[in-house]
Amino acid sequence: MQVPRLGLPNLGLGVGLRAVHYPYLLRENPAVDWFEIISENYMDSQGRPRHVLERIASRYPVVMHGVSLSIGSTDPLDLDYLRRLKALADAIRPAWISDHVCWTGVAGCNTHDLLPLPLTEASLRHVVSRVRQVQEILERRLVLENPSSYVGFRGSTMPEWEFIARMAEDADCGLLLDVNNVYVSATNHEFDPEAFIRAIPTHRIVQFHIAGHTHCGTHIIDTHDHPVVDPVWNLYRLAHQLTGGVSTLLEWDAHIPPFPVVHAEVLKARAYWGLPDSKIGTPTGGADPNRALDAGNDPGDWRTAVPQPLHSLLVEVE
Ligand SMILES: [Fe+2]
Repeated sequence: MQVPRLGLPNLGLGVGLRAVHYPYLLRENPAVDWFEIISENYMDSQGRPRHVLERIASRYPVVMHGVSLSIGSTDPLDLDYLRRLKALADAIRPAWISDHVCWTGVAGCNTHDLLPLPLTEASLRHVVSRVRQVQEILERRLVLENPSSYVGFRGSTMPEWEFIARMAEDADCGLLLDVNNVYVSATNHEFDPEAFIRAIPTHRIVQFHIAGHTHCGTHIIDTHDHPVVDPVWNLYRLAHQLTGGVSTLLEWDAHIPPFPVVHAEVLKARAYWGLPDSKIGTPTGGADPNRALDAGNDPGDWRTAVPQPLHSLLVEVE
C-alpha cells in the first residue's frame, strides 16, 4: 500500500480527456483509472464540454491541467483567471490542479506557447513567490510540470533540474514529472535525461506524463502525436523505480487514435513497473500511428507550428 505523496493519491493509469473521444466515453463507460482535463477548455463553458466533463467527473477521478497560469511571467498574476480556475475546481473537485514551469506571455500579450524561463536565482525567487500566492488563492497545493524546450537563456546559472527541485522545496508545491519532456529537452540541449530525473526530489512528484514526439534528426519536437518511444519508456521505468510509482497520464493531442488505442498505450506502463532491464522487451501491440484517425485537431506541419498541450486548448476553444 503506497503512502499518498503530499496527501495526493496514486490514481493509476490515466488518459487526457479529449473532445474527439466524448461519444465513445459516454457510450461505453470504459474502465479507465482517471482522466486529466485541460482546465481552460472548461472554465468558461456551460455548454456541451462542461456537461460531458460533469458526467466524466461523476464516474472517474479527474485532474485539472492548465496551460495559462504563466507562473514565470513578470506580469501580475491574473487574478480573474485564478478565480475562474478555482470556480471550476470547486465544481469538479479534481484530485489536484497542475500547470507548467514556464511563462506564456508578457505585457498582456499571450504567445500561446509554454516558454522556458531564465534559470537564475532571481527568477527562482520570483517563481517561488508566485507559486505561494497561487496556492493561497486556490487554497490547495499546486503541481507544476517541467516543460519541453527548444531554446534557453545564456544568462541561466543553474540546470533545469536544480531550478525545479529548489522551486518545489521553497514553494512547497508538488511536481508533475513529464518524462517525455525530459527526453525532448535532454536531446535538444544535450544533457543526460537520467541525471535530470535522479535530481528531482521524489517526495514531491505526484504525477508522471508520458507522450510521443517527433524526432527531426537534429532536434525533437514535443508533438504528442505518436506512441511513446522506448527511450522514454526506459526513463519512465527509472522514474517509477525512484518514486515507487505515482499517477501516470498519457498525453495524445494530435492525430488522435480511437480511445481504445490511446488507452492501450498508457496500459503499456505496467510492463515497466519493477522489472529489471533485461526482462523488458520492446512493447508491442499498442497504438499504431498508421491507424491514427484524423480527429480534427491536426497541428499541421511541424515546420510551421510547435505543438504543445496548448494545441488541444486552442482547437477545442475555437
Ligand atoms: Fe506534459
